[in-house]
Amino acid sequence: MPDILIRKIPKALKDWIDNQSHSARTSTNAFLIDLLDNARQGSQRQLPLFDSMPEPVETQSSNNTKVPFTFCDLFAGIGGLRLGLEAVGGDCVFSCEYDKYAQKTYQAWFGEAPHGDIRELDLTKFPDHDVLAAGFPCQPFSIAGVSKKNSLGRKHGFLDKTQGTLFFHLATIIEIKRPPVILLENVKNLMSHDKGKTWQVIQDTLDKLDYEIHFQVINAADFVPQHRKRVFIVGFDRKIFKGKSGFEFASPPEGPKPKFKDILEENPESKYTLTDHLWNYLQEYAERHRKKGNGFGFGMTDLEGVSRTLSARYYKDGSEVLIPNGSKKNPRRLTPREAARLMGFPDHLNIVVSDTQAYKQFGNAVVPPVAESVGQQIARVFANKITKRNGCLLKSGA
Ligand SMILES: C[S@@+](CC[C@H](N)C(=O)[O-])C[C@H]1O[C@@H](n2cnc3c(N)ncnc32)[C@H](O)[C@@H]1O
Repeated sequence: MPDILIRKIPKALKDWIDNQSHSARTSTNAFLIDLLDNARQGSQRQLPLFDSMPEPVETQSSNNTKVPFTFCDLFAGIGGLRLGLEAVGGDCVFSCEYDKYAQKTYQAWFGEAPHGDIRELDLTKFPDHDVLAAGFPCQPFSIAGVSKKNSLGRKHGFLDKTQGTLFFHLATIIEIKRPPVILLENVKNLMSHDKGKTWQVIQDTLDKLDYEIHFQVINAADFVPQHRKRVFIVGFDRKIFKGKSGFEFASPPEGPKPKFKDILEENPESKYTLTDHLWNYLQEYAERHRKKGNGFGFGMTDLEGVSRTLSARYYKDGSEVLIPNGSKKNPRRLTPREAARLMGFPDHLNIVVSDTQAYKQFGNAVVPPVAESVGQQIARVFANKITKRNGCLLKSGA
């Protein structure tokens, strides 16, 4: 094919073609021929055509492969996963979160109020989507009931194991909607919960739903100055990807790690400094536990290092992430803006709730740059597959 195809075209278009063909690991010419051929045939395939031309990348990474795809944001919190997926080309078509304060933040940041309790949704009314994203709460579920049912000789489907749990609702949505890709996030302890049985049920359920499953524990400390280990599960519908998605989690970013001092505000209000009463209490508590030989206690953060994990209970005393405040003052806690930065949320997102709610929301959230890293790898799979001839991967709206 002659070079003329890529002569005298706007630079943005040329960059996009280069980027797409590079991601598809194919030549520019082969990519263009495929693209034009599909356009000519009026194919049902939703290729990332010109309405999805690259926009300026707003995240910290400038090497993103952006691919237009749709996603649902379930157990959305304040949209940590959403920010990550949007950064790689995702378009959110449905969100669900029942906490009214988190809904308020979500509305302010994304211009839409999420639907409420997932248990009350009409599951047949979900829009089609390419990626189902869910940072679902780790709600204990026992499989004792299953063995009882077994012993009674009753038939049961795989979902019976998770009946009544939030994971059951998730599995049902997956079963009904069959999104090509699922992205789930949870605390690392999910894997050891109930001696590993909970994890096994989750794996078995996704396997029986016919998804190729990948999982990895990722420490957010590679992206933000916070030790925060979370397990990410990425699944690909075997009916579409034939078990050959080629997905891989990314290696941790290279270069120097972020330092805690980088997220600090210059002049935090004095109300964030601990009172004598609280500071004395925290020191006595830590001392009592030290004598008993265990490590419970406050976490005084090394400004040159990373903090402990920010939890949703940070609003109570701030003890897990304390900041040294000079020799004459008690240590202080994070301001809500610092908590946002520690989680990787950008400064342009205004905090619209009380300090207490803000700490809860950030402590519950997924770190957007981590979500972006995982989302980027999913987008790469899409980019590789949608430029091939063998069928449509994106179900809708791309
Ligand atoms: C771990 S947080 C989610 C973090 C979020 N996915 C993110 O990306 O930052 C779990 C969220 O699930 C919400 N949630 C719990 N039960 C729910 C339910 N039954 N329906 C809807 N949301 C629920 C909680 O309010 C909480 O915000």
